Amino acid sequence: MTTLLSASLLAADFLHLEAEIKRIEAAGVSWHHLDVMDGHFVPNLTFGPPLIQQIRKITTLPLDVHLMVSNPDAVYLQYIQAGADLLTFHIEAAQDPHRLIREIKEAGCKVGISLHPNTDVSVLAPFLKEIDLVLLMSVHPGFGGQSFIPASLEKIHALRLLLTALHTTLPYISIDGGVNAQTGPQAIAAGATVLVAGTFLYRASDLSKAIHALQA
Ligand code: DX5
Ligand code: ZN
Repeated sequence: MTTLLSASLLAADFLHLEAEIKRIEAAGVSWHHLDVMDGHFVPNLTFGPPLIQQIRKITTLPLDVHLMVSNPDAVYLQYIQAGADLLTFHIEAAQDPHRLIREIKEAGCKVGISLHPNTDVSVLAPFLKEIDLVLLMSVHPGFGGQSFIPASLEKIHALRLLLTALHTTLPYISIDGGVNAQTGPQAIAAGATVLVAGTFLYRASDLSKAIHALQA
């Protein structure tokens, strides 16, 4: 299976966003990963629907929106209306995950569930047949540029085992945080199919070399 690269905008130069988005697309990424942080679920603030709506106008690539907010049940629709193609919420924050999954799908969007590094993959069991993506966080959510937590590799493997046990498959298994030339291929070997990378791509001195390193 080919590896999808989802470039995390968090590491881009925000004073030149359009140029940054064009530059990363020209280098061959598959998706844009947009980290929405509310200053409450995580101790950092990024951006919301208005910026996503602007980005939607300048790209046709899928927008992979990662909600790190305390109230995904209340705000999800704004992100779909702004142009998200995949909308991922944290299981730790959702009030009614089954209902939220159904509502996101009914609004015409693909749906993902994200797990904090401390959350066990077993919590996903009731939802795996209903969703398109699992996003396993390999750093503590809130900031780019952190180091990959090695135990994340076992979590990818545990998710694979759980899917087998439930006789189901998942279109996308995504790993997010600290992905680089060493950890990216390890995550793929463990069973990830999407690599989210911010610092390693946007801050690379040689972007095409960085992309090849993740695809190798
Ligand atoms: C962290 C975000 C990540 C982050 C990854 O809370 O969810 O998407 O941007 O950044 P790097 O690749 O720099 O670890
Ligand atoms: Zn993210």
